[in-house]
Amino acid sequence: MNQVPKIKVISSGKYVPPQLITNEDLEKMVDTSDEWIVTRTGIKTRHRAENETTSEMAVKAAKHAIDRVGYDVNKIDLIIMATITGDQMTPSTSNFIQAALGLNHEVMSFDINAACTGFVYGLEIASAMLQTGRFRAALIIGGETLTKVVDYTDRNTCVLFGDGAGAMIIEPAYNEHHNAYFFNAARGDTAGTLTVINKIKMDGKKVYQFAVDVMQQAIRKVLEDAKIDIADIDMIIPHQANERIIQSVSKSMDIPLSKFMMNLSEYGNTSAASIPMTISDYFDQETIKGQKILLVGFGGGFTWGSAILQL
Ligand code: ACO
Repeated sequence: MNQVPKIKVISSGKYVPPQLITNEDLEKMVDTSDEWIVTRTGIKTRHRAENETTSEMAVKAAKHAIDRVGYDVNKIDLIIMATITGDQMTPSTSNFIQAALGLNHEVMSFDINAACTGFVYGLEIASAMLQTGRFRAALIIGGETLTKVVDYTDRNTCVLFGDGAGAMIIEPAYNEHHNAYFFNAARGDTAGTLTVINKIKMDGKKVYQFAVDVMQQAIRKVLEDAKIDIADIDMIIPHQANERIIQSVSKSMDIPLSKFMMNLSEYGNTSAASIPMTISDYFDQETIKGQKILLVGFGGGFTWGSAILQL
């Protein structure tokens, strides 16, 4: 019998570095055009961390989440950082975040790598850990400095990616109203369809097809587990990779496009940061209390996953 974790979503925050890379900037680097990029991806700008590390951006996103509700940081005793572009091998990026937030009490903090699905993976891990009763509050962050691993001579990939960080604070809850549902999966990609060894390499067409398939599967699966219909969901927050991928899922599943929140035209694909950054934008609206959101992601690995949360 599955035990459904119960969590309270306390707050959400985001940070993007100030420097922009526009489509016009990219036209000067590779043989591309604003028109090609906008029609094939929906992306107009992306942000670039020039002098900031992934952990520094993550701390700013975490502080935004903390300040939004005036949260007592001393309650946080679990930090999970999802990233494929951490500061260094060790200490972990989450250890740096812990230090910068001044959390000197007993805190468990570690990084995970599930590429663009990392935040949804982290949320499921944190929710299960909170259920044990050992932790009071978890800070889950997705953050990336992807521009460090983008090959700015490869027009197939350099137009897609940007930098940023998004954070969420959750606490354990005890009534069914706060049931959280998750579906996370992986399939080993030994063919090198999407890899980062030194720089990002990708077979875009294969990733596109994979994304459209698994997003639909992940949405269906988590709705089935929660025993609810898409009409019961107030907003879907998808991984922000490409507007056409989201349009295709919307059309195939007969879900109105307006139900998918998007900010990729400004930020591009920020991998593990994209879903929590979009959740933070959703939190900027005033009427979210009591709403149900569905998160859905996919990425290298391959990994994919979904979650339903009650705000
Ligand atoms: N500017 C101009 N032309 C380009 C560019 C560019 N930036 N990039 C590729 N092209 C060319 C190609 O070389 C190709 O030319 P050819 O026909 O002469 O060979 C032509 O455009 C068409 O290329 P396609 O691959 O057919 O373009 P497509 O419509 O599939 O769009 C894209 C490419 C945007 C990459 C799309 O396949 C896609 O979005 N894939 C998924 C990518 C993705 O989401 N990746 C990340 C997911 S996981 C993660 O987030 C880490």
